[in-house]
Amino acid sequence: MEGERVQAIASLSKYADTIPSEFIRSENEQPAATTLRGVVLEVPVIDLSDDFNEKILVKNISEASRDWGIFQVVNHGISNEVISKLQKVGKEFFELPKEEKEFVAKTPESGIEGYGTILQKEVEGKKGWVDHLFHKIWPPSAINYKFWPKNPPSYREANEEYTKKIRDVSDKLTNWLSLGLGIKGHELKAAMGGDDTIFLMKINYYPPCPRPDLALGVVAHTDMSFLTILVPNEVQGLQVFRDEHWYDVKYIPNALIVHIGDQIEILSNGKYKAVFHRTTVNKKNTRMSWPVFLEPHPEFEVGPIPELVSEESPSKYKTKKYKDYVYCKLNKIPQ
Ligand code: SIN
Ligand code: FE2
Repeated sequence: MEGERVQAIASLSKYADTIPSEFIRSENEQPAATTLRGVVLEVPVIDLSDDFNEKILVKNISEASRDWGIFQVVNHGISNEVISKLQKVGKEFFELPKEEKEFVAKTPESGIEGYGTILQKEVEGKKGWVDHLFHKIWPPSAINYKFWPKNPPSYREANEEYTKKIRDVSDKLTNWLSLGLGIKGHELKAAMGGDDTIFLMKINYYPPCPRPDLALGVVAHTDMSFLTILVPNEVQGLQVFRDEHWYDVKYIPNALIVHIGDQIEILSNGKYKAVFHRTTVNKKNTRMSWPVFLEPHPEFEVGPIPELVSEESPSKYKTKKYKDYVYCKLNKIPQ
């Protein structure tokens, strides 16, 4: 079992006006000191029902992926009911007594899956104000139900319904992202490992924090995945780095938020850019989010798609197994 949960620390410090020092970020990271206020960033919005004019849709998606690395998707075909159910069962899980949550806790052997607190040691031993749960949702051969909460009882059904829908959205997005690279629609998915791509669900649980001016939820990073498709709850907190500043991202109710991750940046030989982002926390409210990471199998090799490499556009990235990429990134070894 890991150490103390942030949820427990948060309930102890409810009436305090300080937080333990390991949560106090250095000044160049503190949200109060580093966020550009008074502006909310409106990232590109892609309406998936605009598919009657595929050319324009492809242009919009590929420009958003090139210039922003993040966009929101509306009319995506996942009903509010399916999303609300996913959110409800996730919230119910995190509101269970501690002992119940520890049933699905990470163990030294479990890899990334399970209920946990710190992802990796940060410089200066700082911690994010967040607990999480990871479990794979697709393909069936990759799923280990040991890490899916048994409680609430509808947890599994809600996640299975969401999985079905998110796979459809991901197929549509990869088709259009592929066309945007000037290759055939199916080629990007194939370069992502086809139906072997792993869909990894994460729930982030950011309890109320007495000093949201000093703490961060998730520290600044780009996602290692191909693509991340995320639903947040109603509490603001996602920030994007743009033009040398950190901005709050404007949420659109019921939209999905899509991040371009490192592996699509690599496959596209740098045409699409992984987005640099972080999350802040809230004084009064619990923030939650449900990213699904589309990732390669650890042994799968990722490198620029050969058709995108030429004399004028030489390869900008090494081809390597995903597990080696992850190892280098986590240990800060140049790729
Ligand atoms: C993350 O970067 O994975 C967290 C995103 C979020 O909580 O909105
Ligand atoms: Fe992220």
